[in-house]
Amino acid sequence: AYVVCEACIRCKYTDCVDVCPVDCFHEGPNFLVIDPDECIDCTLCVAECPVEAIYAEDDVPEDQRDFIALNAELAKVWKVITERKDPLPDAEEWAKVKNKRDQLIR
Ligand code: SF4
Ligand code: F3S
Repeated sequence: AYVVCEACIRCKYTDCVDVCPVDCFHEGPNFLVIDPDECIDCTLCVAECPVEAIYAEDDVPEDQRDFIALNAELAKVWKVITERKDPLPDAEEWAKVKNKRDQLIR
């Protein structure tokens, strides 16, 4: 499956959502996750994300491996999002921030 990683936090551009053929994105307050049981590895969402937050599971950077379990966990709790919407208000500012996992709201 594909995995949404740290770069998405406090940005949530949602361009990824529009291209997913199986609607497997789930939305939290300031982050999106992919349901690993639904993702069909089509790769379409990867190029859509302006902050390159989405990786194939095997390619998730070493320091973000915990996002694999996090996507699986939160996909069970958060609701499905099927349409693009406006990014979060400070998305451009937070897009430049590298370490922001402490900002994640569940
Ligand atoms: Fe959806 Fe394809 Fe991305 Fe998986 S890889 S989340 S199926 S767009
Ligand atoms: Fe997040 Fe990128 Fe989608 S910022 S909402 S993974 S387009």
